[in-house]
Amino acid sequence: MKKVQTISEIRKIVSSVKAEGKTAGLVPTMGALHEGHLSLIKKANSECDFVVVSVFVNPTQFAPDEDLESYPRNLSEDLKRSEKAGADVVFAPLVSSMYPEPQRVWVDVEGPLTETLCGASRPGHFRGVATVCTKLFNIVQPDRAYFGEKDAQQLAVIRAAARQLNMPLEIVGCPIVREENGLAMSSRNDYLSEKQREQAGVLYESLELCRELFDSGERNTARLKSKIRETIRTCPSADIDYIEIVRKDTFQSEEDITAESLAAIAVQIGPARLIDNITLNP
Ligand code: PAJ
Repeated sequence: MKKVQTISEIRKIVSSVKAEGKTAGLVPTMGALHEGHLSLIKKANSECDFVVVSVFVNPTQFAPDEDLESYPRNLSEDLKRSEKAGADVVFAPLVSSMYPEPQRVWVDVEGPLTETLCGASRPGHFRGVATVCTKLFNIVQPDRAYFGEKDAQQLAVIRAAARQLNMPLEIVGCPIVREENGLAMSSRNDYLSEKQREQAGVLYESLELCRELFDSGERNTARLKSKIRETIRTCPSADIDYIEIVRKDTFQSEEDITAESLAAIAVQIGPARLIDNITLNP
């Protein structure tokens, strides 16, 4: 498997693959690859003739007080894992090639999709995400790009950008991969101590209890959210950023759930800001 650093080289490789009538899949990542990422690569490998994994810690999606500097980086391990999962090329560009000049053109998705949940806590984050993904789509020109449902809002933002800007590719969503205790896999789990990792199981536990309540007929958003809050509060080191239940189509909340919805949470445990979600389908 090849590692490619330059935009011109990855363009050349993918265009020759496509000239042979083959399909190309792209899995955008920020590296520190875990089983969650690998599930995307495997899915891409099962659906596309040629798979590109991008590894790029994108500075424009981090706020100045966030963890850009300390974000885990381990390219040599990422290369091995990508190859094993079925990638054909890892594209790992330098920041200076992705942003050779001050960025003045942005893909900025407006409205509730980026004003709620993580958009409210991390202003500018989704603008950075949508912009770098658009760059990667334009550079690699894949037929399909693969994103995890763990970042459900990110997936919705990318789908909206691709749809409204008529990007000629299919966006594929992939299910959340979890640790044994239910904790959604994340590169940021690396920040957690053994004990914190164990405690972080409370996130999924709270969502499961919410689902149980929902399955027993509860539709009231406030009561469902209370169940989540009360469960997370049993873990003293958990600091809740948000607990929200929103419609999947509009990202707006309803008093009582009437349409397919997302119960989504962001919780700080020690040094790590963790997010998770489940779908509630009435
Ligand atoms: P990163 O956090 O590295 O995630 C890359 C992709 O892996 C995302 O689509 C994410 O949703 C998916 N993913 C992460 N953990 C997962 C899990 N436990 N189960 C399933 N999928 C999982 O998300 C980003 O990078 C960046 O914002 C990026 C899209 C690359 C733009 O910079």
